Amino acid sequence: MQESPFLIVNAARKLQVPRRPVWLMRQAGRYMPEFRAIRAKHDFLTVCDTPELTVEVSMQPVDQLGIDGAIIFSDLLIPARDMGCDLEYVKGEGPVIHNPVRHADDVAKLRNPDPSEASPSLGKAISMLKHEVEPKIPVLGFTGAPWTTAAYMIEGGGSRNYIEIKQMMYKDPGLFDKLLDHIAGVLVNYLVYQAESGARLVQIFDSWAGALSEADYRRYALPATQKVIREFKSRQPEVPLILYVGNSGHFLEATAESGADVLSLDWRVDLAMAAAKVGDRVALQGNLDPVRLFSTADDVEQAALETMRLLDWKTGHIFNLGHGILPGTPVENVKRLVDTVKNHG
Ligand code: CP3
Repeated sequence: MQESPFLIVNAARKLQVPRRPVWLMRQAGRYMPEFRAIRAKHDFLTVCDTPELTVEVSMQPVDQLGIDGAIIFSDLLIPARDMGCDLEYVKGEGPVIHNPVRHADDVAKLRNPDPSEASPSLGKAISMLKHEVEPKIPVLGFTGAPWTTAAYMIEGGGSRNYIEIKQMMYKDPGLFDKLLDHIAGVLVNYLVYQAESGARLVQIFDSWAGALSEADYRRYALPATQKVIREFKSRQPEVPLILYVGNSGHFLEATAESGADVLSLDWRVDLAMAAAKVGDRVALQGNLDPVRLFSTADDVEQAALETMRLLDWKTGHIFNLGHGILPGTPVENVKRLVDTVKNHG
């Protein structure tokens, strides 16, 4: 495969890079005053559905932090909305789906949206963003993984114990498999659409699948994730794919069997241990605790250096947090983090 002009893409392919690349999950968001200023004027879905606003918000961390990748501003639940979920972002509560998918007729009613018709602003925003940031840095696209997308669709929002989704898994595995297979097919199309629009790299977020045991992850989540990755790879073989499964250190080996090029790890996992276990197969991304950014800037710098000491950057490491950056994070500490990685990578 040909070398890419982009650090992140080369690191994802485990090619040698001149320094370690860095980007941050949820790098555009409420911790930034400029983001809050936009949100004071427009609601969240309007920002997602208006390409000019999407690009403006996606550019905020690029301009302010000097980050190595520009993730498109969108949300994991946009494909769910386009499948027919009545989605609302409730202040202080997060996403709510007013018509949760619980029964066979709910599954049967789900649409199979063409992303270029259901969310044309997504593709438009990616191609506009690409023109802004290339050739310096690439655009990253993303979707949720099937299990986490299903968790929101079945629970009707965020959840603590995942009682509704697990209930469907255990009581009606046939229906659950049908739902996950449908979602997987939809998510492939959203990823391909983003790559066709200009994304050079994509990430799949399985934020909540760590709530499963290894056996249940292998039975109820991994096959649909593998389907997404297999079909994406057959349609977009040049575009590396990152898989993030939150809180999944107890089934690291299983995630390494997903077909992803890169595993994005949370802070509970020791990077050196992960490299020893699966580093021959995949590149690694991560994994500073996002809460560490609430410490002093000097401590953040020390923490970044310690994280980097665990892993040889020449063999495929993309620096990131172990989960999304949190509202309230001091922006100057985020800057110190990015500078530390870029200067000492
Ligand atoms: O990384 C980026 O900068 C791109 C933007 C992005 C958003 N959501 C914007 C957003 C990405 C990659 C996501 C993915 C996403 N959405 C995930 C996976 C990442 C993760 O954190 O695990 C999840 C679980 C969601 C679902 C979601 N969307 C939640 C739980 C919430 C509300 C709580 C929260 O974190 O703010 C959202 C809304 C949302 N998506 C916001 C942003 C900036 C906040 C909306 C606001 O401005 O009020």
